[in-house]
This record gives sequence, structure tokens and C-alpha cells, in this order.
Amino acid sequence: MTVTQEAPDSAHQAHFDAAIAADRRIEPRDWMPEGYRKTLVRQVSQHAHSEIIGMQPEGDWIASAPSLRRKAILLAKVQDEAGHGLYLYAAAETLGVDRADLTQRLVDGRQKYSSIFNYPSLTFADVGVIGWLVDGAAICNQVPLCRSSFGPYARAMVRICKEESFHQRQGYELLMRMMEGTEGQRAMVQDAVDRWWWPSLMMFGPPDDESPNTARSMAWGIKRNTNDELRQKFVDMTVPQADKLGVTLPDPELVWNDERGHYDFGDPDWNEFKQVVSGAGPCNAERIARRRAAHEKGAWVREAAAAHARKHNTEEAAV
Ligand SMILES: [Fe+2]
Ligand SMILES: [Fe+2]
Repeated sequence: MTVTQEAPDSAHQAHFDAAIAADRRIEPRDWMPEGYRKTLVRQVSQHAHSEIIGMQPEGDWIASAPSLRRKAILLAKVQDEAGHGLYLYAAAETLGVDRADLTQRLVDGRQKYSSIFNYPSLTFADVGVIGWLVDGAAICNQVPLCRSSFGPYARAMVRICKEESFHQRQGYELLMRMMEGTEGQRAMVQDAVDRWWWPSLMMFGPPDDESPNTARSMAWGIKRNTNDELRQKFVDMTVPQADKLGVTLPDPELVWNDERGHYDFGDPDWNEFKQVVSGAGPCNAERIARRRAAHEKGAWVREAAAAHARKHNTEEAAV
């Protein structure tokens, strides 16, 4: 046992508080309050689950992408999301949890993932709108997390954000091309924007006055901005892009406010958000059923890998 482990909790706490105050990173071997560890396990594992479940709505379109170029882009993007999930499960494991257990909690419905992935992707325009709006919202959320106080999470975010900006651009470029196309293609883009706009705003979570954990997460440096701040940033960033694209965002209250220097906008339907988060969204059951089936189908691979590792270890021990 090291000296630091023997120190009383108050000394550990003081050391931890000083590190947070000085904006130093907390690393896995450092002492941390149990609440900090639990909050991170919840946030990082939900984030990992979101990346993995998030492969489904777009993955549905890989087989029917309209050209080889679009197929190659979409395939690369969906594979990136799998990679993001793996970085994040690895970051969560540094907090003393087991990835197999986290996956079990997801497929049993005991852990959540982002509400956005419980909406269906109905046309190929949805692929573009998901890249533009959903990955765009993810960037707003994730860029400040590159400065999160927990080292492994912050470092995973740096790598992830680089790929997210490609995701956002490929979506926007696809929509630009569709808007230069036929009347029917432009209508498909507008329809997809109408369906994804409000769920994208919900990605930032409930309003600040209904988000009891935000203040603590910000004091710990896990989060750097409140939900409402990030939502505003996303709206301000997206409105000029929508204008350039030539689509209308489906919010009659959306208007520039000179005094505030920001856009004013309407409230998402928070009852719908609560329903989707509690499991009653349009695709919750389908998403989890597919994840569970994929997990069960992969059981033989995990068993074979474990058997191979055991054999390898025995051979090494015998040398
Ligand atoms: Fe991602
Ligand atoms: Fe992405």
C-alpha cells in the first residue's frame, strides 16, 4: 500500500480539490471521490453506448447508398463510430468497470444512450441530415469535453472530435449536392430537416433548471458548459448553415436577437424527450433488440479469443 492510500480521506480530498482548482488532469491511479468516479462511469459508458447504437440508423443505408463514393464515405463514417465506442469503453475501464458488464447493462436496458438514435432514418437525405445536425450537435457537446478533468476521457475526445468534423462535413456536402438536384430531392432534404431538427436540440439534455447534476459535473470539471449554453451555441452555428443550404428550420420562433447577440428559438417538446429517454421512442425496442442479437451472435468470437489468450498464457508460462 502506498503512502497516499494510507492518508486520511480529508488529505486525499484536499489534494483532489487542488488539482481540480488548478485545472490539472485526474488520472486513473489518482484518488478521486466516489461521486466523481460514479458520475464519470455513467457519462463515459452512456457516451460509448451512444456511439455503438448510433451506428444503426445510418448503417441501414450502407447497402443502398446511391453511388460507390457515397457508400465508401458512409462505411468509413459508421466504422469511425465503432472506433469511438471502443475508445470510450477503454476510457471507462480505467475507472474500474468491465466492458462486458457495461454492454450487459445496455442490452438489459439498465443504462441509457443518446435519445437521438431512437428516431428512424427514412430516406437517404437522413444520412446527410444526421451528419450535419446530429454530428454537428455532437461536436458542440464534445469539443469542450477535450478539456474534461478526467485524463483518459479528455484524450479520447481529442481523437474523436477530429473524426466528428469529417462526419459533419460529409453530411453537409451530401445535402448541398441534393439541394442542387431535382425538386423531389430538395423536398426529401427539407422533410429530413423537419424531422431531425427538434430531436437534435434535445441531444443537449433537459433545460438547465431541470438538470440537477450539471452544477456538480461543472464544479468537478467533467462538464465545461451547461446544456442550455451548448444548445444556444449549436443554434447560432447552424442557422447560417441552413440559410446557405436553402432549407427552413421548423421553428416559427427562430429569430436573431440583436440585444443578446444570439438567436432566440422555441422549446423542444420536453414530454416527447422524456418518453424517448424512458424507452418509449419510435425505435428504442428495435435498437436494443439488434444490439442484443449482435452481442449474442458474437459470443463465439469472444469465447475463441479468451481460449486463445489462455493457451498463449499457458505456453508463455511453460517457457
Ligand atoms: Fe462518434
Ligand atoms: Fe460521428
